[in-house]
Amino acid sequence: MATTLEKLQQDIDQLAKNFANDQELDADKLRTKYLGKKGLFNELSKEIRNVANEDKKAAGKLLNSLKNDLETKLTSLEQQTTGSWVDVTLPGEQPSQGHLHPISQAIEEISGIFEKIGFTRVRYPEVDWDYYAFESLNMPDNHPARDEWETFFVDLPESKEKGKVVLTPHTSNGQVREMERLKSKPPIRMINIARCYRRQQDVTHTQMFHQFEGLVVDEGINIQHLKGTLDHFAKEFYGPEVKSRIRPFHFQFTEPSFEVDFSCHICHGTGKVRGKKCSFCKSGWHEVGGAGMVHPNVLKAGGIDPQKYTGFAFGWGVERTYTLREGLNIDDIRYFYSGDIRFLEQF
Ligand code: DAH
Repeated sequence: MATTLEKLQQDIDQLAKNFANDQELDADKLRTKYLGKKGLFNELSKEIRNVANEDKKAAGKLLNSLKNDLETKLTSLEQQTTGSWVDVTLPGEQPSQGHLHPISQAIEEISGIFEKIGFTRVRYPEVDWDYYAFESLNMPDNHPARDEWETFFVDLPESKEKGKVVLTPHTSNGQVREMERLKSKPPIRMINIARCYRRQQDVTHTQMFHQFEGLVVDEGINIQHLKGTLDHFAKEFYGPEVKSRIRPFHFQFTEPSFEVDFSCHICHGTGKVRGKKCSFCKSGWHEVGGAGMVHPNVLKAGGIDPQKYTGFAFGWGVERTYTLREGLNIDDIRYFYSGDIRFLEQF
């Protein structure tokens, strides 16, 4: 029986439809079934014998296009399924996760240690008046002590009462601000942690760094309270055997003033490890920052009566405090702010 082109087209459409609806999922089996030697396509191609001679060319084209179509669909199916057998009971792959910057981790921990003993965490402006950074801290204009803070001045109009605008060179700018916030009414127990800025840049200094500042003002506050607070911090942050030590020093805003040291947690304050000089501290102690009893002039600037109230304050750098604990021996502190993920990932 002769096959017309229409009949051939119908059969081709049917085969394409069967292929599309085929329930077989295995790409290999599908290929054998449709394009194999004894497959459905070859079977169908035989019909060309029965097509009239003048239609053979057209029939060949129709069949060819069916074959190409099947081939494309099978290939894409094979690509989709190759090696993609999935064991759904396997644990999933963890996406890589970031974490807080080491300095943020340290800040959280430091806040927590002071909050536990009743301090309130506060933050004050990083761009502040000269008055809060210096003047109110017993450093009048042109006082030579100001030179110790290599201050950045901001090119903004001066205020008649509060002077120039600076990038805060230390967190002590929070002292009188906190007294003002509490309307000059002690008790004050503040921990102020913030960015500070100084004109300095080398392997142990960055132009931007962090400090934390403690301030306690109340009736009857004395050096023992300061010492107890420093010891509490030392134990919580560095370990139960670490002690604090205060040495006489000078700051304009405290009287008396001290430098604060912590005993080295590697050699336990002895300066020696197995008979040799401790290579981490060299002397048994690490100097970390300053402290003292709040100067009466500072209390007065904050509207507090120095006859009735006394207070202590301390302040030092987060970066140094943190690297000391970890025994990091970081040869260039600027790594912290380099944004280099290979460095940061190690914390
Ligand atoms: N602000 C001082 C500095 O940056 C550190 C300091 C010393 C803070 C004594 C204090 C203090 O609160 O009482 O060098």
